[in-house]
Amino acid sequence: MPVEYTERSLLKYTQQVIELFRNPKNVGEMENPTVTATEGDAQCGDMMQMSLKIENDKIVDAKFLSFGCAANIATGSIVTELVKGKTVDEAEKLSIKEISSALGGLPALKMHCAVLAYKTLKKAIQEYRQKNVEGEKQPHT
Ligand code: FES
Repeated sequence: MPVEYTERSLLKYTQQVIELFRNPKNVGEMENPTVTATEGDAQCGDMMQMSLKIENDKIVDAKFLSFGCAANIATGSIVTELVKGKTVDEAEKLSIKEISSALGGLPALKMHCAVLAYKTLKKAIQEYRQKNVEGEKQPHT
């Protein structure tokens, strides 16, 4: 008789993922963020919001809200941890591989959840850069 595999039976989360799912870091809304971005995953329909506080091109605080799964909560936690204290340029260079490695790896089925966190960060940085360009275009009074 063939063995039936459910998605759950195929998911082997690392200890880091389980720990960050149980005790997520940097979850919540931020007061007076420099930028907030929201991104969605077309594959699962989940969403993530990320807020960054940036001073002199350095990310001094990062928070996220996840409307997704355990892997998304864990990746939101690790991404916000990894970018805090980095310059915007350094944070922009963060790769999916680095995010996944910091979690000890992710099941292939859950890589898109890490991609969602990665894309939300990229969108926030893009919006920050856009804001700066627009700010520079404002006439001086
Ligand atoms: S299944 Fe949607 S973010 Fe993980």
